[in-house]
Amino acid sequence: MNEMKIPTHVGIIMDGNGRWATEKGRPRTDGHREGANTLKELAIHMNDIGIKYASVYAFSTENFKRSKTEVDFLMNLFIEMFTNEFEFILSNNVRIVFSGREEPLSKKVLKAMRDIEEKSKDNTGLVLNVCLNYGSRSEIVDMTKKIASMYKSDEISLDDIDEELVRQNLYNDLPDVDLLIRTSGELRLSNFMLYQLSYAEFYFTRTYFPDFHNDEFDKAIEAFNDRNRRFGGV
Ligand code: FPP
Repeated sequence: MNEMKIPTHVGIIMDGNGRWATEKGRPRTDGHREGANTLKELAIHMNDIGIKYASVYAFSTENFKRSKTEVDFLMNLFIEMFTNEFEFILSNNVRIVFSGREEPLSKKVLKAMRDIEEKSKDNTGLVLNVCLNYGSRSEIVDMTKKIASMYKSDEISLDDIDEELVRQNLYNDLPDVDLLIRTSGELRLSNFMLYQLSYAEFYFTRTYFPDFHNDEFDKAIEAFNDRNRRFGGV
């Protein structure tokens, strides 16, 4: 992909796992496992082509409304991935961080998350921000509480509150998202990174996430290269 403009930060709403499996006459959970494999492949690819940050929507705060079987499956899949299956990604210098609330994640899930964060903290390649038990509105509420308590304890004054301080007090201090991808044909944000997406280019594809392999990802990068980003200017 010579001479391509590579976005610094890509967001991916990994949608369509359930439909991918259902259309094949398989249980929805097979779609999640296949989606996890696709994510592993994409993480290596994004790192290889020089993307610095990727935020992926693994589980929203609303996803707890799904059946217990599906929620349990996903939680166990996360543990399995972070404990064993992400080894190759880490050996490729990828760093893993998480965005989301801890409550009500189980101790086992939280431990797997903390362990992989710790294990990969010195890696200098792609930062893979896994949004797990994540909601953008909760993130904004939690940021507001952090800043309010800093103000209350006289750490900051009212004039210190600016866009930069807000960004720094989100779950992770990350640059703006340049390109947002949502798979499976849905045209919604679903409470994903509202603050960080202010100037993002959007790319939607009907492809279900398990089938969103590197060649499909490259099409999104090509589309991004055709956009004329003006950031409010002319
Ligand atoms: C949306 O598809 C996908 C999810 C709710 C889960 C995303 C999880 C993965 C890709 C698994 C791996 C992630 C990590 C971090 C190891 P859906 O179930 O809503 O699909 P549907 O709209 O077709 O029902």
